[in-house]
Amino acid sequence: MNPLNPTILNPEGSLRVVVTKELPGDHWKQILIQAGCRIEIAPGTKILDQATIIDLMGERCDGVIGQLTEAWDATLLGALKAAGGRAYSNYAVGFNNVDVDAATRLAIPVGNTPGVLTETTAELAVALTFSASRRVVEADRYMRGGQFTGWLPTLFMGQLFHGKTVGVIGAGRIGAAYARMMVEGHKMNMVYYDLYPNEALEATIADYGDFLEKQGEPRVTCHRAATVEEVLEAADVVSLHTVLDPSTTHLINGDRLKLMKPNAILVNSSRGPIIDEQALVAHCRQHPDFRVGLDVFEKEPEMAPGLAELDNVVIVPHIASATVWTREGMASLAAANVAGVLQGYPVWDQGGVLPFLEGATPEAAPSIVNAEALGLR
Ligand code: GLV
Repeated sequence: MNPLNPTILNPEGSLRVVVTKELPGDHWKQILIQAGCRIEIAPGTKILDQATIIDLMGERCDGVIGQLTEAWDATLLGALKAAGGRAYSNYAVGFNNVDVDAATRLAIPVGNTPGVLTETTAELAVALTFSASRRVVEADRYMRGGQFTGWLPTLFMGQLFHGKTVGVIGAGRIGAAYARMMVEGHKMNMVYYDLYPNEALEATIADYGDFLEKQGEPRVTCHRAATVEEVLEAADVVSLHTVLDPSTTHLINGDRLKLMKPNAILVNSSRGPIIDEQALVAHCRQHPDFRVGLDVFEKEPEMAPGLAELDNVVIVPHIASATVWTREGMASLAAANVAGVLQGYPVWDQGGVLPFLEGATPEAAPSIVNAEALGLR
């Protein structure tokens, strides 16, 4: 018996799929069971190390749903291959924890879960933006501490965003959703940096500008900056939405922080190592009006020394995608990735992932990041 004592569903299933954490909802289980899988779910909340995952996979494992907290490098993927594994899906849209090149060399398709996190993650970035700018957490602590002795003209003053400038670094799906929430909701101008122009976003903001003008209000504008520095200098709030790779590691460092307005807001709901966290602590100490909202950390679950003591930082434990709909949707997509590959289905090419979220799912694997490299498209 496996020392971890996994929960076993559909024990008679002919394909063995290991799931390294319990996932929310039931739809994902139905997808795997209908594909003939026996499901083995590791119990508990502890992040599993590689040796434990290798034990869990055992001598025979057809597929795995793993977590972003696990390093799916050549060692782990090699162990999956050696156990006869043919499919891996991350329970995440990001896959910086997976060595996709190694997976491709081993002919293991790697799934991820796009399309269900967009609005949810953008909403948390907005929540962090306003929690930081309006000092919600500091003020909550003050109330609970019994310090409120009556309304005061200067109590917890923050920044008004209406009509100011929002900066987005990485204007993909999530960055663009955040931008629209800030531009359309708060009539902010936008400046963004991305390797590629987001023409749809620019057109939407231009249309919104036309609409405002017709109402006799000032237009909003959208400008694609040539450099990250330009965004940092211009924006009143900067939200980070890039992928994590060597080119974005410590993208926000001490020198770049110095370019930001002394009372700007910085929000990160993408990946922790994009910010040099030690430099951020130093910057926040020197600039008490500079405020930060963080969902992710450089060395999760640790925080840089001093970060937790700063009043001008709002910190939450990597929960940007944590709505019931999104987390259940991610489970359905991860299961459909593994079930689809194991059944020899093609990769979904019809756009959108909603058909995978309830009921009978299409005969396809919804999102395989190395589909092209493996000739699955
Ligand atoms: C969460 O951080 C994800 O990448 O899905």
